[in-house]
Amino acid sequence: MCASMFCFLLPATRKVKIFAPNIEQRDVVNHLKGSPADEKRNVLVESARLARGNIQDLAELKVGEFDAVIFPGGFGVAKNLCSWAVDGKNCTINEHVNSTLRAFHSAKKPIGLCCISPVLAAKVFPGCEVTVGQDKNVDGRFPDAETASAIAELGCKHICKDVSESHVDKANKIVTTCAFMCKAPLHEIFDGIGTMVEEVLQLA
Ligand SMILES: *[C@@H]1O[C@H](CO)[C@@H](O)[C@H](O)[C@H]1NC(C)=O
Ligand SMILES: *[C@@H]1O[C@H](CO)[C@@H](O)[C@H](O)[C@H]1NC(C)=O
Repeated sequence: MCASMFCFLLPATRKVKIFAPNIEQRDVVNHLKGSPADEKRNVLVESARLARGNIQDLAELKVGEFDAVIFPGGFGVAKNLCSWAVDGKNCTINEHVNSTLRAFHSAKKPIGLCCISPVLAAKVFPGCEVTVGQDKNVDGRFPDAETASAIAELGCKHICKDVSESHVDKANKIVTTCAFMCKAPLHEIFDGIGTMVEEVLQLA
């Protein structure tokens, strides 16, 4: 999972475009040491590394050109797309992320989110239904299970789902799956994300 990228799908051709906000990263982690490094990086530039350059500034996204949006998730969502990593349910959301979510929602186009990114929907659309897995740390597989209570405190309904499943909020056209919020083998996470993408395409 990446430093904050999004894909948008055109169902007729399944064409995807990737966007990221042009902002500085909250921090840069040296993953060899597992600690923050003393350097600065830009989210769009770092995301371009993963997208092999084929990426655009989120500020330039035109919702009318797309049928759906998917937020891949990752810690970058909680650090850069919003401030959940620091502020929990009191977080602020990047203005372009907020306006993108609201624009797809008001155009009745589906929104797919996985991993920690369902908190974006919980913050922007009070009353919506999302899953980040289980609301209890069942068998030690859901170490961040308290995220489910924070979602409920935002006035949303947390739906408990296993890692291989996704939840569809039909009224809001929001599809969520827990992905790496669950300590599960990669192939189970892959299956769960697959169900989310399939449901998004069905709604598009
Ligand atoms: C959110 O804000 C409330 C009210 O200011 C505060 O009591 C609470 O501790 C904050 N929660 C987090 C996770 O920062
Ligand atoms: C999202 O944008 C709307 C409209 O500008 C604003 O009212 C709302 O507070 C924003 N939500 C968040 C979580 O920043």
